[in-house]
Amino acid sequence: MTRVEITSKSFGTARVLGRVSFTIDEGETVALVGPSGIGKSTILRIVAGIDTAFDGRVERPDAVAMVFQEPTLLLWRSLRENLRIVHPALTPAEAEEALVQVGLAGKADFFPGQLSLGQQRRLALARAFAGQPELLIMDEPYASLDQETAQGMLRLTETLIARHRPATLFVTHSMQEANHLADRVLTLREGPDGATLG
Ligand SMILES: Nc1ncnc2c1ncn2[C@@H]1O[C@H](COP(=O)(O)OP(=O)(O)O)[C@@H](O)[C@H]1O
Ligand SMILES: [Mg+2]
Repeated sequence: MTRVEITSKSFGTARVLGRVSFTIDEGETVALVGPSGIGKSTILRIVAGIDTAFDGRVERPDAVAMVFQEPTLLLWRSLRENLRIVHPALTPAEAEEALVQVGLAGKADFFPGQLSLGQQRRLALARAFAGQPELLIMDEPYASLDQETAQGMLRLTETLIARHRPATLFVTHSMQEANHLADRVLTLREGPDGATLG
């Protein structure tokens, strides 16, 4: 169970978030939507434990994986090493299987620069799922992909979620994506004392 109870979050004197409180059940997929700049990425960083400078509390499972808008790959390391640096216990066979699952079979010795943008995003997904996360957090994972590639990524994410069953929290600009992938959609709205869930 993931339990988020933010009472306030500010950057300097600028209050960004008011009370933001929600839970995510095991295996549940929750989408977070709202206008640009309202605080969606800030919430994800708080839930992931990357940002600890807020008022409130978060209960999360131990195994958390995050997928950012940019694939954040190590360009000078092979695909296999990109997986094994984050997951040192992964055997070569398991690394290969993780690549197979995202359609990158046989590419373990390639470097990220030899992949298309869509393939780089799939590598980032493979890296996230390779740790068997109990909580998966994704920040606009399909942004700046062409529609066909984004659709393919969406289907792949669905398959991986069905296979691994993490609790999932993701941000998207697309209500279609939100409704398609999520069991529940949270909408962030501007309030007098920072953004809250409307
Ligand atoms: N590290 C930071 N320092 C100062 N302000 C920030 C920082 N990160 C985000 N902000 C501000 O917090 C607000 C929410 O940002 P963000 O969570 O990135 O919004 P969203 O993801 O919904 O577009 C914005 O006004 C942004 O400028
Ligand atoms: Mg953002």
